[in-house]
Parts: sequence; structure tokens; C-alpha cells
Amino acid sequence: MVISIKDLGEKDCVCDVIILPVTEGGTGQYAGLGRGVAEAIKKGFSRKFSGKKSEICPVPTPAGFRSEWILLAGLGKKGDLTSESLRQAGGKTASYLRANGIKKAALSTALISSLRISPSAFVEGALLGLYSYEKYRAEKSNSRVGEILILSKPSRDLRRDLNWSRIAASAVSFARDLVNTPSNDMTPTHLAKAAGSLRSAKLSVKVLGRREAVRLGMGTYLAVARGSNEPPKFIVLEYSGGKGAPKVLVGKSITFDSGGISLKPSDGMEKMKYDMAGGAAVLGVLKAVSEASLPVNLVGILPATENLPGGSATKPGDVVRAMTGLTVEITNTDAEGRLVLADGIGYAKRFKPAAIVDIATLTGACSIALGNEAIAMMGNDRGLLDRLKRCGEAVNERVWEMPLFEEYREYIKSDIADIKNTGGRTGSLVSSAYFLKEFAGDTPWVHLDIAGTAWLDKERPYIPKGASGVGVRLLLELVRGN
Ligand code: BES
Ligand code: MN
Ligand code: ZN
Repeated sequence: MVISIKDLGEKDCVCDVIILPVTEGGTGQYAGLGRGVAEAIKKGFSRKFSGKKSEICPVPTPAGFRSEWILLAGLGKKGDLTSESLRQAGGKTASYLRANGIKKAALSTALISSLRISPSAFVEGALLGLYSYEKYRAEKSNSRVGEILILSKPSRDLRRDLNWSRIAASAVSFARDLVNTPSNDMTPTHLAKAAGSLRSAKLSVKVLGRREAVRLGMGTYLAVARGSNEPPKFIVLEYSGGKGAPKVLVGKSITFDSGGISLKPSDGMEKMKYDMAGGAAVLGVLKAVSEASLPVNLVGILPATENLPGGSATKPGDVVRAMTGLTVEITNTDAEGRLVLADGIGYAKRFKPAAIVDIATLTGACSIALGNEAIAMMGNDRGLLDRLKRCGEAVNERVWEMPLFEEYREYIKSDIADIKNTGGRTGSLVSSAYFLKEFAGDTPWVHLDIAGTAWLDKERPYIPKGASGVGVRLLLELVRGN
């Protein structure tokens, strides 16, 4: 889809529809465009439309316009207006355009500029909302929205905002594609190839195989990989665009989680292809950072493997040694995420990072606690936790902090090793994070559990069903220094 800025009045724009964002009860909001438009808007309000969030209503344009339709897009209450309202309106509008085969639309910025919200949020919502995954279908949806014109004076700020929206949305689509791809195609090898496709002058990509992992002493990561015939790939991306210690992002990259010998029930197991959503988010972030040439240093780590119950699979009760030296008793092979992250975090420390953030579909307990509405967050650094909280609000990928009380140490005490990988049925969201904390040590670190948010069974205004791409926009906000 082409996004362009046109310094044109609504009347003079040649296109299929003019989009007018309207808040609740805002019948008089485009009075400046003349009586005809005011009447057209009133007509919309006399039907079902009331300006509520997610409402879309077409009305014919008055005489003198060079487009046929006006599309009213509801923004909700004026007092509650944020860039999220506009993102949602963008997503809803774009779906409407596509469903009705509308190719060329123009967005009026008269109202939103006066409310000091950048139209780029609308564009971001539209781009995110138009995503669909059709790789394995013979019949592709052939209606494509061709162009959205932004009716505004061109300015450097607007151009910069729009460019960023495009880069961010394309990174989210990239992550969604990886997550939606079934595990027979999205193997660790394939994930490594996807990472390799991001290579550039400032971004190096290194892939360690089983042998190198053995040499580095990655015992917890390798314990997970034992049960599968797919070669494990420990993927490291290094982006150098600035000065100072890097931030390191570690993404759980289990391309399929059967549970291993502690086998999962078959009901719903097909969804466990999304157990690499953390890794996909990290790749999305690196893609955007490198496309935007951000002046930062950033490392991405994806310990990728399948978790299968093969003949040489790890068995409950086995003890292994992690890269940091800690020994771990594996009481449940289905708690594999924390095992691969332990060595991911262990490897991250080689970079002497300013901060480590890991992101993972780690526990079923996360979605039990928070549903699909928030990422669970735990960590050892108040400043970093607070920053992520603010970032989450800015992009509406909300995070909710859970505690890491000292007492949780008891939960993961082992009789025969330094620590065990499960903490019992109660508190499994927090004990999983406490396990990771033992590997982060003194480095400022935050853990994000996206088990409830990475996959949606029901669509949202700008998130189609399936992989949500959650984490990409959140971590981009962090990396940009907001
Ligand atoms: N990948 C799962 C967690 C998960 C479950 C993500 C459902 C998304 C949806 C993880 O590896 C897992 O199996 N966790 C176990 C841990 C338990 C054995 C301590 C869980 O949460 O049940
Ligand atoms: Mn598991
Ligand atoms: Zn898992």
C-alpha cells in the first residue's frame, strides 16, 4: 500500500473515499468544509453511526466533491482520545476499504491535527490491520487497498512519523509471518535463515550449531534439543549503530513445543508452533532498528530448537549444567523455555550489556492470570521495569508487573542440584521468572511473558486472528529510548 502526503483540500482530492475521523457526538466537527459536509455527517448520525470507537459509516459526498463517498470513522469520546484511538480507527477503516474493494482513500487531518495527534497512528493501524497470512492458500484475497493519501501540508515531522509507522508495521508483519508459519516449515534452520536475511553493514548474524553450543557449555539449551532430529540453531544478531554497552534481547525460540517426555495433552497442541513468538519479536525489532538506522547498540539472541520426546530426549530427573555454571535438575521437560533462556541469558552476559530483556511464551499460568490483555513482567531493576511499563502504555502493548519475592527461591530448590526447573503448581508464573533471575545475576534484567498475548483466537481492530506480533512495538519503544 502506498502512503502519500498531499497538500489538497478534501473537496479537490480525486479518490474513492474521503475518511473523516469523528468523535462521539461530533456532528459539527467538519463545519469548516461547508454546509454540504455538515449535512452529510448529520445523515450518518441519523443512521446507526454515533462516533463510537470502531464504527464506520459511508455517506455520499455533497456536490462539488471529486470523490463519491465520505467515510465516517468513529474515534470514541473526545476526552479519551489517544493515538491508540486513531490506530484502532485506522485498522477498522482499512478492513472496511479492503472488504469493499476500495482502492484509493484520503484521510482528512483537519480534526486530528487540531487535537495534536499525528495521523501516522492511523496509518500504523491501517498497515497492521491489513495484514493477512495466506501462504498456504490457493485462493488469495485479491482486493488490495492501493493508496492512502494524507491530506496535509508536508512537513519533516509528518514524513518522519509516517516512515517510522511503515518500518514498525513491516517489522510486526515480519514477526507475525514467522509465528504463523507451521513448525514443519518454521524449523530452527529456517528461523536462522530468516535472521540471516536481515544481515547488513551494521547488522551481523551468527548461527551456532550443536557442536559450538557443546563447546560453550550450554547444557540447559542442549538438554531441550536432545529429543529432536532438527538441528538446533543458537542465533545471535549484533547491531552496531551507536556508542556504549548494548541492550540484549533474548527471545524464546521453541519452534514446536510438544512438552518432550513430559508430553502435553494433544488437545490444542497444534498451537505450540507459536512457542517461538519471543524470538520472532526480537527479529522484528532488529529488522526495524536496522532499517531505521537507529543510533544504538543492540544484540538479539534466539536459542532455537524443537522440544520433542525422541529416543535420546532428556528425561525428568536428569541434571545438566548451564553455561553460567549452575546445575539444574529437570523435573519437567515441558518447562523447556526457561532452560533455553538460561543459556540465552548466560550468553548475553558476554556482551557486558547495559540491560537484558527476555521475551517468551513461557507459562500457561500467564494467560490464566492476565488473559489476552497484558504481558506479565518481572525483573530485578526498578528503572527498567518502570520504563517498560511506560513503553507498553505508549504503544498499547500493556505490561503488568508481578512480584519476585525472595521466598520464591524455595519453590525451585532441588534436592540434588543447585536449582530445579519447576516450582510446583502454584505460582508457576512467578517461579519461572525467579528461575531466570538466577541466571541474570547482577545485570539489569526484565522478563516478559507473552503466553497470553502472542496468539489471539479473536481479531482486534488492527490485529487479525493468529499471531499478534506482540513485543515488537513495545521493545522498539524501549530501544528508541522512550
Ligand atoms: N510453551 C509453554 C507455555 C504456554 C502454554 C504458552 C500455553 C502458550 C500457551 C511452556 O513451555 C510450558 O509448557 N509451560 C508449562 C510449565 C510447567 C510444566 C511448569 C506450563 O505453563 O504449563
Ligand atoms: Mn513447554
Ligand atoms: Zn514452551
